[in-house]
Amino acid sequence: MDVKIYDKLAKKYDLATKIVSFGIEEVWRWMFKKELKKHIKNGTLIDVASATGEMAKAMDFDTMYLIEPSSEMVKIIVEKFENLGYKRENFEVIFEEIPAIKLKKDKKEVIIIQESAENVKLPQKADIITAFMAIRNFDNLEKGIKNLDRYLKEGGYFGIVEMVKSESFLAKLIMWYMENVVPVIAGLLVGMKEEYKMLGKSINSLSEDDIISHFKNYKIIKKTKLIFPIATMIIMRKNEKNS
Ligand SMILES: C[S@@+](CC[C@H](N)C(=O)[O-])C[C@H]1O[C@@H](n2cnc3c(N)ncnc32)[C@H](O)[C@@H]1O
Repeated sequence: MDVKIYDKLAKKYDLATKIVSFGIEEVWRWMFKKELKKHIKNGTLIDVASATGEMAKAMDFDTMYLIEPSSEMVKIIVEKFENLGYKRENFEVIFEEIPAIKLKKDKKEVIIIQESAENVKLPQKADIITAFMAIRNFDNLEKGIKNLDRYLKEGGYFGIVEMVKSESFLAKLIMWYMENVVPVIAGLLVGMKEEYKMLGKSINSLSEDDIISHFKNYKIIKKTKLIFPIATMIIMRKNEKNS
């Protein structure tokens, strides 16, 4: 996905998302978090394609790596966590030549890396990876998931919420809304009609089977549609070596 669109959208992303989804995306996020927390309450988290950092904010784990390639989104994440009382460390953290921004609040730390899922490098493995409306943006889904998998512990969780293809009438209606009405609203709201048209097109690009086919070494522990049938939540657990 061309991150320039997200650079342009960054400042208005949270508001625009709430308006065009009538708040439904927030309900999806709440359902996702509730389900994930049944399995794991704290530890090290990687949130991929973080946009403005809402998913990490909701999860509130002690150590969180936020992977986001848009520099403008990164600025919003920093601002958001500073407003939550996190303090930015005044030196740059470097992992294998990739600069990262580190923020701390008591024993909690947030590390923001401006990089893609496909190319990111991390200094440690995590207990959980969250990908909320994230993976359809990857330029190369296989490479992105393979790379992230390197940084998930055995027995760790990979949670996904994504828009997927669906043949139901309601799903087709919502898809029509996303492709035809949302760009008009976005045009009036943030002057980004063409950009939202492009984002709308990406919505119909993945099926549940496409997603699951990339997780051969995982066991599905939850797979369900979320309120409207165009979004799916899939939570998987990475197999341990001897299982
Ligand atoms: C729909 S937003 C994600 C929403 C976010 N996860 C949330 O919880 O609100 C998609 C994000 O994917 C990012 N992105 C685009 N290409 C990417 C890639 N190859 N790897 C990781 N993130 C990418 C964009 O910059 C954008 O911020």
